[in-house]
Amino acid sequence: MAKTKILVTGGTGYIGSHTTVELQQAGYEVVIIDNLSNSNIKVLDGIEHITGIRPAFVEGDMTDIETMRRLFTDYPDIKGIINFAASKAVGESVEKPLLYYRNNLVGLLNLLELMPQFGVKGIVFSSSCTVYGEPDTNPIDESAPIKPATSPYGNTKQISEEIISDVIHAGAPIKSILLRYFNPVGAHPSGEIGELPIGVPQNLIPYLTQAAAGIRKELTVFGNDYPTPDGTCIRDFIDVVDLARAHVIAMHRMLDNADTAPLEIFNLGTGRGLSVLQLIESFERATGVKVPYHIGARRAGDIEKIWADPKKANEVLGWKADTDIDDTMRNAWKWQLKVMPKN
Ligand code: WQD
Repeated sequence: MAKTKILVTGGTGYIGSHTTVELQQAGYEVVIIDNLSNSNIKVLDGIEHITGIRPAFVEGDMTDIETMRRLFTDYPDIKGIINFAASKAVGESVEKPLLYYRNNLVGLLNLLELMPQFGVKGIVFSSSCTVYGEPDTNPIDESAPIKPATSPYGNTKQISEEIISDVIHAGAPIKSILLRYFNPVGAHPSGEIGELPIGVPQNLIPYLTQAAAGIRKELTVFGNDYPTPDGTCIRDFIDVVDLARAHVIAMHRMLDNADTAPLEIFNLGTGRGLSVLQLIESFERATGVKVPYHIGARRAGDIEKIWADPKKANEVLGWKADTDIDDTMRNAWKWQLKVMPKN
């Protein structure tokens, strides 16, 4: 039987590459489109090393509808899409709002317009816990109120959710699952793929591993005067492979289960909040490597504490993020050591 074909936009990126691996290992055939604006073509080698299969690859920009029309014409039997392709730096989005609105929204509009024309049945969308803003209580479930976005990046996630919802309510013959990620971290245990930030990392783990490796002088912990047990911010750090696995389950549910609602939303987190200092401790415990760090000022716009109630995903999807955080940190370190010479 022919394998079900899935389009993974942004498939050479961090979460996209890990999800491509899991999709291939589950028996799906993957076509990737990526403009390589924040990823490297060599990621395809890493994917192939792990799975033995090189995914089809189209270098192109999703914001160009003709590129997308050609892609769907060249691969006429795509049944589902996972839409990772997006710009994701919060700070940059404040500086360049139009870039963010164009990249993140126009590409999605193109997909939604073309899906019915080419018989594509469903789209899994990468959303974010950023839609909850600073939660009133934790853990936070999917019924929690959506708070006004604090950056153009966050706003693109909220607007994207609304666009998909409106299109489905208007009767489009498609289904969608919105996945709200908490903080994805770690790397594939094979050491073949991981996060490859270009330039100075903005997120905690890539900065931490580069500081531990001596590439950066030291990590700055942004504030230790928050009303949390150790004064640092709390996040729900979720292993990227656990996260990737959830996409495979979501895709299967969307395409092969006629009884599910056309639009569903799931939080993807562990249900456990860890502070920035606890994460540093986990890294040091797991690797035996010290993280050089100092306490600095708060970073503007940071959420004080947020962690998921993942009960809905646990029960409805039968999915659980169960990788031990120390293993996640070991994988992040293994990946850092692998990419070291290139930095
Ligand atoms: C985590 C914690 C920092 C760097 C952002 C987006 C979110 C999501 C992921 C997309 C915070 C602290 C960080 C550093 C530090 N989206 N930190 N020193 O801010 O939770 O989420 O990225 O890609 O939408 O908002 O993640 O990794 O930047 O920060 O102390 O050098 O680590 O203050 O408490 P964040 P993060």
